[in-house]
Amino acid sequence: MKTPRGVKIRSPRAKSRGESRARSPLDFARGERIIALLLLGALWGCAEAPPIPPPDAAPEVQEGHRLFLAKCTLCHSPVQPAEHAAAAWPKLVDKYGLRARLKPEEKAEVLAYVQQYSK
Ligand code: HEC
Repeated sequence: MKTPRGVKIRSPRAKSRGESRARSPLDFARGERIIALLLLGALWGCAEAPPIPPPDAAPEVQEGHRLFLAKCTLCHSPVQPAEHAAAAWPKLVDKYGLRARLKPEEKAEVLAYVQQYSK
């Protein structure tokens, strides 16, 4: 008679202890998960592909997209066209087009592409 009562009393206590023990490691895991998600987000942000022009887009936009992927990703992950205003892109394409060694007509094509998808 004593033993079953003892078991019945002990088991709920054991359960609540088990739960409170499980909470603190979960809190640590939550913090780690947030850091992991932030890192993943940063990685995804870098890996995000710039917009692809539709097949009926102007030829210089198509060519600009091709050049953008080929030349503007050599030193850094692609800077999204939407990260800058259309009015800001000419200076940027000029500056970085030089670094990418783009010919003047290639700069014009990259500019046509980024302005198509700019802010
Ligand atoms: C030779 C290496 C190199 C190439 C090629 C290059 N960039 Fe960059 N880019 C950089 C560096 C380094 C920075 C960091 C800021 C700086 O030094 O001016 C940068 C920064 C930028 C920025 C400003 C930062 C931002 O996040 O908005 C833009 C816009 C940009 N690049 C666009 C381009 C475009 C468009 C091309 C292709 C025409 C290009 N880059 C090709 C090296 C390069």
